[in-house]
Amino acid sequence: MSGILLELKDICKSYRDGSEERVILDGVSLAVGKGEFAAIVGPSGSGKSTFLSVAGLLLTPDRGNVLIGGKDVTGASKGERTMIRRRQLGFIFQSHNLLPYLKTADQLAIVQEKPMREKVSVDELLSELDIADCRDKFPAKMSGGEKQRAAIARAFVNDPDVILADEPTASLDAQRGRLAVEMIRNEVKKRNKAAVMVTHDNRVLDLVDSVYRIDGGKLLKERFE
Ligand SMILES: Nc1ncnc2c1ncn2[C@@H]1O[C@H](COP(=O)(O)OP(=O)(O)OP(=O)(O)O)[C@@H](O)[C@H]1O
Ligand SMILES: [Mg+2]
Repeated sequence: MSGILLELKDICKSYRDGSEERVILDGVSLAVGKGEFAAIVGPSGSGKSTFLSVAGLLLTPDRGNVLIGGKDVTGASKGERTMIRRRQLGFIFQSHNLLPYLKTADQLAIVQEKPMREKVSVDELLSELDIADCRDKFPAKMSGGEKQRAAIARAFVNDPDVILADEPTASLDAQRGRLAVEMIRNEVKKRNKAAVMVTHDNRVLDLVDSVYRIDGGKLLKERFE
């Protein structure tokens, strides 16, 4: 297998707006390798979340191919897509999306997919993200930063090849936002994963390896190291 963990090739996606067809993604391509942390920036409504949804197999493009771990999953069935999503992808959303009636350890336990011997220890992960003391707390008893870190822990629990984060710092202050992005970066570097983060926050762009801008349906590389 090559070092590319996530590849999108010539993706097109339009939405129907009344009688009009609105082109959101107009032939967009991106490849992210092992140990690479990429950021996508661009104006509101430019298609960043749409793009991330296509990458995460939540949305089917009108045209183009999605490859995960070198395998073309474009034509995969709904069931296969769900399996790939659970086993190979980790999602972090703008709002933490934790279930209000579950304690932190259980938020992670219910999404765990890997066979017992491959499992990442929930306690280890919570310690790594410095929220070990939230293990038996409900979200309502946790701060915004703690909740976001619990959501990051949940995205890491299946040891995914690819991490997708849609504005993970949006509900956090500058310092906590930076910490959250540092945690994603550490995971990418330590475990050789690929990550794509959509962000509006220019102050965290020094933490990523490459920056892409999406505008007018096109994706352009702005910075690459
Ligand atoms: N399911 C849908 N049906 C129709 N139009 C949609 C749908 N989802 C998104 N759109 C439109 O597609 C465009 C791109 O949306 P998207 O959510 O990808 O933008 P974004 O870049 O993530 O914006 P933001 O920075 O505000 O989150 C927007 O104009 C939006 O209104
Ligand atoms: Mg968005």
